[in-house]
Amino acid sequence: MSEEQRTWGGRFEGSMDDLTRDYTAGVDRDLYEHDIAGSVAHARMLGATGIIPEGEAAAIVAGLGAVLERFRAGEVEWRPDLEDIHTHVEVFLRDEIGAAAGRLHTARSRNDQVSLLNRMLVRQQCDLAAAGAEALIAALSDLALTHAADPMPGYTHLQRAQPVTLGHHLLAYGEMLLRDRDRFRDCRARANVIPLGSGALAGSPYPLDREMVARELGFDSVSRNSLDAVADRDYAIEFLAACAITQVHLSRLAEEIVLWSSAEFAFVRLPDAFATGSSMMPQKKNADVAELARGRSGRVLGELVNLLANLKGQPLAYNRDLQEDKAAILNAAAVVVPTLHIFAAMAPALEFDLERMREAASGGFSLATDVADYLVRKGMPFRDAHAVTGGLVREAEERGCELHELPFDRYAEASDLFEPDVLEIDVDSALAARDAIGGTAPARVREAAEALRTEAGS
Ligand code: ARG
Repeated sequence: MSEEQRTWGGRFEGSMDDLTRDYTAGVDRDLYEHDIAGSVAHARMLGATGIIPEGEAAAIVAGLGAVLERFRAGEVEWRPDLEDIHTHVEVFLRDEIGAAAGRLHTARSRNDQVSLLNRMLVRQQCDLAAAGAEALIAALSDLALTHAADPMPGYTHLQRAQPVTLGHHLLAYGEMLLRDRDRFRDCRARANVIPLGSGALAGSPYPLDREMVARELGFDSVSRNSLDAVADRDYAIEFLAACAITQVHLSRLAEEIVLWSSAEFAFVRLPDAFATGSSMMPQKKNADVAELARGRSGRVLGELVNLLANLKGQPLAYNRDLQEDKAAILNAAAVVVPTLHIFAAMAPALEFDLERMREAASGGFSLATDVADYLVRKGMPFRDAHAVTGGLVREAEERGCELHELPFDRYAEASDLFEPDVLEIDVDSALAARDAIGGTAPARVREAAEALRTEAGS
């Protein structure tokens, strides 16, 4: 490369070693929209404040427009020797407008420039992830309304515990995703402070109008400490934490889909569009989408740890370590955002075997708690009711039958509080009974689905 094209060429004599050139190159090639938007706003402000002549500012803005078109048309030649997107844009601008390009970097360092770029990237990815979460919440709430009264076994320790409705189970994920959506929103709000104007680290000696740039680029406020503004990346870590939590939620849902679609559960049939077959075993239909979502979680969690570790040993202010942040942000978003959308598309296509789920919901003595609650309603302390019901469960187990198949005499012997209506306890009565707010009663599930839909649509 010609040394004079390097933006820092003045102090350097020799050319860069090829390995070093590749080693130090950034991964920000596709971020030209943000970088150019930042430069346009900066140039306008430089002109408006008289820091550079207005005519040259206008030429820079027009030239940046031309550079943007070249990028969009794929007409730029990426040159690793130019290191990052900031240098590329400046060199391409020089091709367009000549010497005036040299004024663009007035009152700016790549350190505040890159922090700006990162914040614009995080904002954008937060919006995309929040929209993905909302799409999946909408799909789950719709499904929950359809299945508000359809029973399935609820589990603890993966043992059948008490019946719940399928709608209630799905809405559990809806609630998680709503918090995920809100985390992306919160992260966006905290990232939305403009760092430009901080210079390399110490601030700027020019009469900047930072508010003007903030307004033009949609930032809520202007950073108050130049060192912090160029050196911290907590907003990126927050984004990665929100991604990691979201992906963990998706991974749990993925695991349920894998389990439910196995022959052992057989609760759900996978739609062909979201499953694959085996090259060897003709009968197989695999939950690959779910498995890959689960399998890619490690990448997302890894990027969070990556950036935390990256930041922890760095003294203030900017260090080149920070260049690693963009790959982390992009890698995590590249998993989370598509996973949200593919789950949103897959959810309505799942074919549930509602009969089998209903059957499973009543098996395994899952109504034992309801029998105990029956005694409690008649005045027995819960601990005693638990013991009485436990005895009945043992007996049913010995006889190889379910609780409601025991003759009423056995109940009457166990407690004189029992009346024949105890045999009417079934899955539907158990579901309907859990009618307190947050419970699985179909009416509550419908309310919760509507509420979630409203909150996610807002
Ligand atoms: N490519 C760098 C990054 O992504 C831009 C800032 C470079 N600043 C510097 N002083 N080398 O962080």
